[in-house]
Amino acid sequence: MLDHFVIENPKRRPDIAAGRDEWYPYYAGFSGAFARRLIQSAGLRQGSTFLDPWNGSGTSTAAAVASGHRAIGFDLNPVMAVVAKARLLPNIDAPSIAPFLSDIMKRSARQHITAEDDPLLTWFAPSAAAEIRSIERAIHGPLVCADRASKSIDAASGMSSIASFFYLALFLTVRSLIGRFKASNPTWVTRPATLQSRVRPGAAEIRSIFRQRVSAMSASIIAEPRESHLANVECRVAVNSSEKLPIDANSVDLVLSSPPYCTRIDYGVATSPELAVLGLKMDTQLRELRGRLIGTPTIQDSPRLPDPTWGPACNRFLKQVAQHPSKAAKSYYYKTYVQYFGAITRSVSEIARCIKPNGNCIIVIQDSYFKGIRADLATIFTEIASAKQLMLSRQVDFPMSRTFAYINTKSRSYRPSSTSVESVLCYTKR
Ligand SMILES: C[S@@+](CC[C@H](N)C(=O)[O-])C[C@H]1O[C@@H](n2cnc3c(N)ncnc32)[C@H](O)[C@@H]1O
Repeated sequence: MLDHFVIENPKRRPDIAAGRDEWYPYYAGFSGAFARRLIQSAGLRQGSTFLDPWNGSGTSTAAAVASGHRAIGFDLNPVMAVVAKARLLPNIDAPSIAPFLSDIMKRSARQHITAEDDPLLTWFAPSAAAEIRSIERAIHGPLVCADRASKSIDAASGMSSIASFFYLALFLTVRSLIGRFKASNPTWVTRPATLQSRVRPGAAEIRSIFRQRVSAMSASIIAEPRESHLANVECRVAVNSSEKLPIDANSVDLVLSSPPYCTRIDYGVATSPELAVLGLKMDTQLRELRGRLIGTPTIQDSPRLPDPTWGPACNRFLKQVAQHPSKAAKSYYYKTYVQYFGAITRSVSEIARCIKPNGNCIIVIQDSYFKGIRADLATIFTEIASAKQLMLSRQVDFPMSRTFAYINTKSRSYRPSSTSVESVLCYTKR
């Protein structure tokens, strides 16, 4: 069943990827070529409805739009909503980029916005933070229709693709300026130890990098074949939790998604410089977001209990973690896993509700390890899905040599082998 779906290795290939696929190389993303071939091969009628409830950098929604399908993508992290929207900028809009850029540069030069609590001050000296904020406000002013007061998290949902395009260029500018705070762990960003060690680029340098990023992104749009980006296809990308989807029951034809990893990757901290550009307060709003993201290493105030309906594989894994002799196994790690599987189950229930009968759901998932104990995520996910009427029709496994389990260097010594498996799981709703 579902043999006609073309399933290639989902692993990103930065060596061959180009254009929009590489604007924001998201460590958690799958490959654009994989998503495009899979969606094209699904045999959906034009105008079918596609959903990605963990949309990340928007690889799948961009592929669905390119195939002429109505696409819906949600991510709880506003940074990812902005990145995904930027990727959807129709290529017929390319001629408007230069006039918008010139307007943004003019208006930002006329203002100098300083605020003592600007989250950019985490990495930047005050004059540099003020310059970046002036550019950000110049993008926000005319291009974002959301209420100015409700900036940061909600504003990302109301942003147009053209506004998101410039925000993405500003994210990349900030990243290049704070390169020295990149940690060896690619999902972590460090902070300056003292106020004096914050970066202090001049206004001319900031403005020049921003211009360069805009022109590089713009050049990759101009290089695309004219018909490759359909301007009249409906696409909705917004900030929303997969645990409660604002979509009608039985309305989605196809889901292609990859859930947050089960390796305590902190997606909030990983994108904290971009969240600072969006204006999120680092001590309050970032903390709140981190607590809500699935897979967070932080423990919620009221941790839930495991549920027998999560299936035998999940409950067996949780029992093994709880019984592990290490000190933190029961007091910390066990709680993060219970949180994770609870949130995944609530999300799968929502996904299943939205899919039409006989509609399909394709999930890309990696196994992971806790101190040598394997979390067989493919089996666990399949057991959770089958309890929600999503029945496994096909599974394709790809061995991987390097996984996110490896990002946590402390866990290496416990790993039984250096390989792991990434599975593409195809479900049909009964
Ligand atoms: C593995 S990534 C998806 C990557 C995506 N396939 C791509 O190609 O870019 C999982 C995403 O889930 C998001 N996420 C975490 N918790 C979420 C939640 N409760 N609701 C929606 N998205 C969430 C994370 O921010 C992350 O971007």
